[in-house]
Amino acid sequence: MIDLNEHNITDEAVRRWDNCPDARFREIMTGLLRHLHGFAREVKLTEAEWMAGIKFLTAVGQKCDDLRQEFILLSDTLGLSQLIVAQNHSRPAGATEQTVFGPFWVEGAPRLAHGADIANGASGLPCHVRLTINDLGGRPVPDATVDVWHADADGGYDVQNPGWSMAEAKMRAVFTTDARGTLHFWTVKPACYPVPTDGPVGDMLRAANRHAMRPGHLHAMVRKPGFDTLITHVYVQGDEYLDSDAVFGVRASCIGEYVQHEPGKAPDGTVRDTAFVTLDQTLSLAPA
Ligand code: BEZ
Ligand code: FE
Repeated sequence: MIDLNEHNITDEAVRRWDNCPDARFREIMTGLLRHLHGFAREVKLTEAEWMAGIKFLTAVGQKCDDLRQEFILLSDTLGLSQLIVAQNHSRPAGATEQTVFGPFWVEGAPRLAHGADIANGASGLPCHVRLTINDLGGRPVPDATVDVWHADADGGYDVQNPGWSMAEAKMRAVFTTDARGTLHFWTVKPACYPVPTDGPVGDMLRAANRHAMRPGHLHAMVRKPGFDTLITHVYVQGDEYLDSDAVFGVRASCIGEYVQHEPGKAPDGTVRDTAFVTLDQTLSLAPA
């Protein structure tokens, strides 16, 4: 019989995985065990503290439903999501970097023609967006499928409205790049917004005296056979939250210039009678 104590229990807990037939699962679980035990030792976790941790994780699970994933939000706000994204998509120099996906993409957004206005009545400054999709040699990538989605001037996504259905889609669409690798559309300028704070993750942020804000951004997902699917953001240059994004998603290669203009001629040749914004951003794809 082994006489287990606080010093040898980790080796024994790891040994219990020796017969796991799935080598990768065994590697993940024994690594997790060593770090969990090491963490409890390092901070000398008390029973009351571990019970508080269990209650917190229980509340995180109870907050989840079909539309709300509090565990992903926890992973995002701990920086774990972006760490996993970064280590699985280390990109060659010149390629646009991969960032967190976030919870607001919806499959089946309207496929629209270039020049369409995707705002669909959302509040905000009119914004003309031109995206150019290139390969690493600067050559255009035609026929790429590009999903875009973002928040309005109040920081809200269409899907956050109770009872939302795709028939009321705003600020989301799917485009296909032309022979020059470009697409363009009208929308409204995205604003900064807080991640949801009405659950246990919000309690955690408040306990840490951390804010919940994300800098304003446009999300883009670019898919083209032969290239690594690019899930990224185009952040608003100058946004006050670029250096403290609640989910650690900002990369220098993902900041775009949203330039404000007086009323007049827009890049698509139309004449606007109110002030408007333009964004002209190139996204560079890495090979698959
Ligand atoms: C978003 O940008 O849509 C997002 C990302 C992570 C957590 C919450 C929101
Ligand atoms: Fe977002």
